[in-house]
Amino acid sequence: MTLLALETSCDETSAAVVRDGTVLASVVSSQVKLHAAYGGVVPELAAREHLKNLLPVARTALREAGVEPGQLDAVAATQGPGLPTALLVGFKAAQAVAFALRKPFVGIHHHEAHLYSPWISLSPPGGERVAGGRVRGIEPAKQFVTDFSAFQPNVSLIVSGGHTLLVLVKSELNHRVLGSTMDDAAGECFDKTGKLMGLAYPAGPEVDRLAEQGDPKAFDFPRPLLHDASDDFSFSGLKTSVRYFLRDHPKLLDDAQRVRDLCASIQAAIVEVLVTKTIRAAKREHVRCVTASGGVTCNRALRRDLGNACKREGFMLRLAEMELCTDNAAMIGILAERKLLYKTPATDLDSEIQPGWVLA
Ligand code: KG4
Ligand code: ZN
Repeated sequence: MTLLALETSCDETSAAVVRDGTVLASVVSSQVKLHAAYGGVVPELAAREHLKNLLPVARTALREAGVEPGQLDAVAATQGPGLPTALLVGFKAAQAVAFALRKPFVGIHHHEAHLYSPWISLSPPGGERVAGGRVRGIEPAKQFVTDFSAFQPNVSLIVSGGHTLLVLVKSELNHRVLGSTMDDAAGECFDKTGKLMGLAYPAGPEVDRLAEQGDPKAFDFPRPLLHDASDDFSFSGLKTSVRYFLRDHPKLLDDAQRVRDLCASIQAAIVEVLVTKTIRAAKREHVRCVTASGGVTCNRALRRDLGNACKREGFMLRLAEMELCTDNAAMIGILAERKLLYKTPATDLDSEIQPGWVLA
């Protein structure tokens, strides 16, 4: 089965071609530089950029995959949640392509697709490559494949600039949300505390970089809801505490090493909450596997600490590949293919986007 998938829910325009569990091509055009000037994603600008970039991105994906539109068996797109005007671009385009080709259309829940991204892995070096399969911008070309025979029930952490979710995945296409953030997402906390330090948007990667040479124990910030019985998160209190801390220590920002210590201390608070609550949920739900995806999964401390915690508990850990942590159409296409294989009915061609779609 060969599918074209589109993702335009936020600020990444992405198209992927997927065939029988292999990502033949995955092209992502990020708008992050455009929105940086405004300190956050501007929905109207995002939608215009998607309109401008979607066709070139989709054409490139098809060309790199060596697939003609007539060879497609289905078309998929993110249906929600996300920015309404941004979602509309990819969703309506995908419906139009499916209509023109008279092929099934699959509307995908963005978060459900995140649950699949940790199962998409780089094929082993020297492993067999499918002709045409390459991911743009990465040399030598990388091949992404899936092997669902390795699938295990898991607790999945989805952490990005827009969402923080803990999900119990009992089996494929069968999941239950255990908890989510009550206010700011984890990525938002990185971005906003970084902004207080004068770092450019999105500050997460820079906080990560500076934290590598900082002392995580230098400053003691709150670990919100760490010992709360629920699986929910809250990060706005941590952000406020950093704001007051900087108000009381304005000179600290002049000292590069203290800034590195501050980054390390904030990061340690966020990562401890994420790791502790994920591991606790996995133990309670009696699963032996933890997965993670979303932009914050690029964070080195999170990858390291989650890795160590899983090793201690004897859990299998699947972290999304770095290239697939942030939003991408590969995960949309892989999930759409699984749905069709499991005989999930196609989505109506006159169905609408669901910007506020909540994962059950
Ligand atoms: O998945 P993503 O692209 O989705 C959203 O658009 O929300 O995630 C972006 C988020 C931003 O908040 C960014 O600061 C954060 O992921 N992020 C990081 C790192 N890389 C990206 N946060 C901490 N450490 C990183 N290395
Ligand atoms: Zn996402």
